[in-house]
Amino acid sequence: MNYQIKNICCIGAGYVGGPSMAVIADNCTNTIVNVVDLNQERIDLWNSKDLSNLPIYEPGLKEIIKRRRGKNLFFSTEIKKHISEADMIFISVNTPTKLKGIGAGEAIDLKWVEASSRKISQYAKGKTIVVEKSTLPVRTAETIKNILNSNTKKPNVDSNNQEFYILSNPEFLAEGTAINDLENPDRILIGGDNNNAIQALESIYSNWINKDKIIKTDLWSAELSKLIANAFLAQRISSINSISALCEVTGANIKEVANAIGKDKRIGELFLNSGPGFGGSCFKKDILNLVYICKYYGLHETANYWQQVLEINKWQQERISNLIINKLFGTVVGKRLSILGFSFKKNTNDTRESPAIKICKDLIEEGAKLNIYDPKVKSKVIEKDLNLKESIDFDNNSELGEWRFASNIEESAVDADALIFLTEWEEFRSINWQNISNKMRDPKWIFDTRSIDLSKEAQKFGFNIWMIGEGKNYS
Ligand code: UDX
Ligand code: ADP
Repeated sequence: MNYQIKNICCIGAGYVGGPSMAVIADNCTNTIVNVVDLNQERIDLWNSKDLSNLPIYEPGLKEIIKRRRGKNLFFSTEIKKHISEADMIFISVNTPTKLKGIGAGEAIDLKWVEASSRKISQYAKGKTIVVEKSTLPVRTAETIKNILNSNTKKPNVDSNNQEFYILSNPEFLAEGTAINDLENPDRILIGGDNNNAIQALESIYSNWINKDKIIKTDLWSAELSKLIANAFLAQRISSINSISALCEVTGANIKEVANAIGKDKRIGELFLNSGPGFGGSCFKKDILNLVYICKYYGLHETANYWQQVLEINKWQQERISNLIINKLFGTVVGKRLSILGFSFKKNTNDTRESPAIKICKDLIEEGAKLNIYDPKVKSKVIEKDLNLKESIDFDNNSELGEWRFASNIEESAVDADALIFLTEWEEFRSINWQNISNKMRDPKWIFDTRSIDLSKEAQKFGFNIWMIGEGKNYS
């Protein structure tokens, strides 16, 4: 078997499938790439004429869509058709934590992976390479293999001369920098047990990636490496966040500590920003899954060790809402607070596991009236995340917490006692302080949970400033 991949199908048009297929199509212009999804609304948005309506915001994405959509990149709900035409199929569906049954709250729910595998087994024709892109528990490839081969083994079933080869090709892109990460990855990891299939996938990537960046392993090592990469990254954030609290009480400065330790090559400078806790669809889910796997194999000490990374993350979020309430004289009942940033990091419209969700919920629970502004997150998404309808107008006679969407920073600051920075969007670095401070109520506060470091300018306008990991208190 020597493959030339002419037709790719990707099941799942989400944050991973959409951008990664766009970059493949952009670099392999002779290959047809069909991205399919069950969700018609999402596909319609991918096909929208106005590129600002794409379902995912990623810097650089709309330029690629403009270049390739309708040429060799297509978005559709015709799953059967595109599976049957493909010689390589990527599975990029959602793999959230299980909510019910065995392993609930820890294990990954594989129902979408299973459903996709069944569709492939039903419709694929001839030799087909199936590539796991979603982060999956170790040995999921085995499950996929069993499902795929179930059809070919049945007597009297026209199995379309099916022959399947399974590869694990975990995606390491980070949201907000996805296009750059896909175009210039640190490495590409391909796990598999069939050299021809591995080479076929390698030949796709070698269109724009140097061969020495392509690592080949067995299937399970590839699956496990993805989980462990995320666990190590999350662990760094919990480590620095735990020290941010120590800096605050001892008078040290977390940025200086991070800079000093990061200069040691063995530690490294990246991923040492303390903040309100990590969010995103991967870190929590993957660590929970790692904890589950360790417990399953009786490795309780290993499970407890990684569980602590999650405990610190939860504690950091709670610590921030508590200290906001304490600084605002022990109560936020009826107080207007401006929430700046709701996505889990800058340059994405994704709010999955965003620390803003827990912090806003806590403040609402305490009776605060929140004006929430985010440059890319829509009010409908916030409503769903907070599980609370947006108020049309705040009820000043009610002690109940409420929230409203603000369409810019100025609007969010009206009558507010505090600006609470929860995401590090660039536009927050060029605030018109005169304008904002005139709109607010005294004494006014800034809570900077992202080390945006607004102190120099804002201090001139009489703000009290709390900065994460900063021992000195400005006021
Ligand atoms: C992560 C991994 O980085 C990526 O390799 C994997 O494929 C998917 O999971 P992502 O969740 O998209 O990517 O973003 P990332 O940049 O890792 O940030 C995750 C969270 O950690 C964010 O909430 C971010 O604000 C936070 N973070 C990151 C910090 O608090 N401090 C840092 O120094 C870095
Ligand atoms: P990720 O961040 O991993 O890309 P998303 O939730 O953004 O996750 O995207 C996953 C996509 O997969 C969703 O748009 C969902 O509708 C789609 N999906 C899930 N199951 C199937 C399936 N069986 N067939 C086609 N698409 C699916």
